[in-house]
This record gives sequence, structure tokens and C-alpha cells, in this order.
Amino acid sequence: MSNRTALITGASAGIGATFARHLAAEGYSLLLVARRADRLDALAAELSDEYGIRCDTFAADLTDPAAPAAIVDHAAAQGITIDVLINNAGLSGKTKFAETSWETLAGEIQLMVTAVTELAHRVVPGMKERGWGRIVNLSSLAAFSPPGASLLYTGIKSYVLNVSQSLDMELKPHGIHVTALCPGFTHSEFHDVMGTRGSASRLPGILWQDPQDVVREGWDAVSKGRPVCVPGTVNKIVSNSMRPVPFRLQYFLGKTFNPFRNG
Ligand SMILES: NC(=O)c1ccc[n+]([C@@H]2O[C@H](COP(=O)([O-])OP(=O)(O)OC[C@H]3O[C@@H](n4cnc5c(N)ncnc54)[C@H](OP(=O)(O)O)[C@@H]3O)[C@@H](O)[C@H]2O)c1
Repeated sequence: MSNRTALITGASAGIGATFARHLAAEGYSLLLVARRADRLDALAAELSDEYGIRCDTFAADLTDPAAPAAIVDHAAAQGITIDVLINNAGLSGKTKFAETSWETLAGEIQLMVTAVTELAHRVVPGMKERGWGRIVNLSSLAAFSPPGASLLYTGIKSYVLNVSQSLDMELKPHGIHVTALCPGFTHSEFHDVMGTRGSASRLPGILWQDPQDVVREGWDAVSKGRPVCVPGTVNKIVSNSMRPVPFRLQYFLGKTFNPFRNG
């Protein structure tokens, strides 16, 4: 059992809720964050009953630039020390860049770039002082894949993949491991939110993973100090085979085979 606490964003569903269950089973105390407070409270009650851990919740919309500071201030006010950060909250829009409002696009960047970076920046000093920390940033197989038309998502997840490795290089000597976790298609609510459930359900089953497998592999990777984790054999083959492919061919593949093409 651990006396450490994990802050998990996007814990109301999918991979984030699975991380909460996995870390609760290992004895971590939890601070769960997402917008849907009812879901967070139900999960917190379930996990504290089942594992006897402390499980706090904090409802926040991470597209709000004030949210990262509010979360960390709330933790400090409650006497919660953050030893593990799972930067997981995210979604993909399915809209055309030129036809989408700047507020919507800025919200995606705030949620998956700025909040991810700011939360890490706010919890790292305490981790450094204590000489121990674990940060998992949810990137995606999309970071290695051909670009998808209209999507900020592939660019955003490429940022997360790259910056996680930079942070790991700087922080590992201080006992802090940082891992970019890069899942492929994972069973969750992601495609319901994106509005692509129809096309997603036509993809072959071999491409899909359960969130439990993603989380198990991701947590093992950060524990062992591996800065990049592509979970699952099929995803590893895809990510490795994409690297030597010239940009022009990647562009063509992205344009031709995107199952979520947008008009
Ligand atoms: N599923 C996949 O195929 C897949 C593949 C690669 C990478 N990923 C990445 O994995 C992460 C988790 O996705 P998932 O598959 O678990 O999707 P999901 O089931 O839709 O869960 C997304 C989580 O993010 C939270 N969230 C979304 N917008 C938010 C906001 N503005 N403020 C606070 N929380 C917000 C949601 O909570 P509320 O709605 O309650 O706020 C929810 O808890 C994402 O970063 C995603 O990009 C997913």
C-alpha cells in the first residue's frame, strides 16, 4: 500500500477512470478531476469503499485557463500532496478548422496543451523537493500517424509526445519519471464525444484495446522510467512502421485512409 496521492484529470470516464481503479488497487490516495461531478463522486465512493483509500474529487472544466491553478490550490488547501499526475483529460473535435470558432479551437489547445503543461509545472516543484514523482501525459498513436485532415488533435498529441521526453530528461535526476502514453484505438467514450462511433465500430477488432491493458502498460512504463509507451503489439508495429515513411507519403496516407474524414 502507498501513502502517496495521484491527481487524475478526465477521471469520469474511459482511460482516466481506469487509471483511478488501477492506482486505488495499489493503495494510492486519489484526487479525481473532470467536469461531471456526479460521475467523479460515484467513482470516489466506490473506490474508497473497496480499497479504503482517501479519494477526493474536484469538478473543473480544463478549457478554463484558471482551472489548473484552482485544482492545485484546492489540493494544497485540503492538505493533499500530489506525487503522481495523470494528465489524461482530452477529446478530439470533428470539425473543419476554417469553420470552427476560435473559442472552440483555443479550448482544445487549453485542455490538451496548456493545462497539461501548467499542471506539470505546478506539481513538479513539490515532487522535486520530495525527490519522487510520476507523470503520465496522454499522447496518442496519432502522434506517430499520418496527419488527419482538419484535426488539431495529431499536432496536439505530437506536442505531448515531444515535451514529455524533454521533461523526463530534465527531471529524472530528481527522481521524477515522465512518460508519454500513446494508445491507439481504446474502448472508452472518446468516439461518442467525437461523433465518430459509427466509423469507429466498423474498424477491425484487432486495432482495439481495452483501457485496462493501456493503463497497465502505461503505469508499468512510468514506474520503470520509460519516457514513451506505445501500448499493445499492433500499436507498436504501426508506430515503428510509420517512422521511416517519408512525409509526402504520410500526407498521402493521412488524406486517403482517414476513417473519420470530415466531408
Ligand atoms: N480512446 C482512444 O481511442 C484514445 C486513443 C489515444 C489517446 N486517447 C487519449 O486518452 C485520453 C482519455 O480519453 P478517453 O479515451 O478515456 O476518452 P473519454 O472516455 O471520452 O474520457 C475523456 C475524459 O476527459 C474529460 N474531459 C473532456 N473534456 C474536459 C474538460 N474540458 N475539462 C475537464 N475534463 C474533460 C472527460 O470528463 P468530463 O466530460 O466529465 O469533463 C472524461 O473524463 C485523452 O487525452 C485522449 O486524447 C484516447
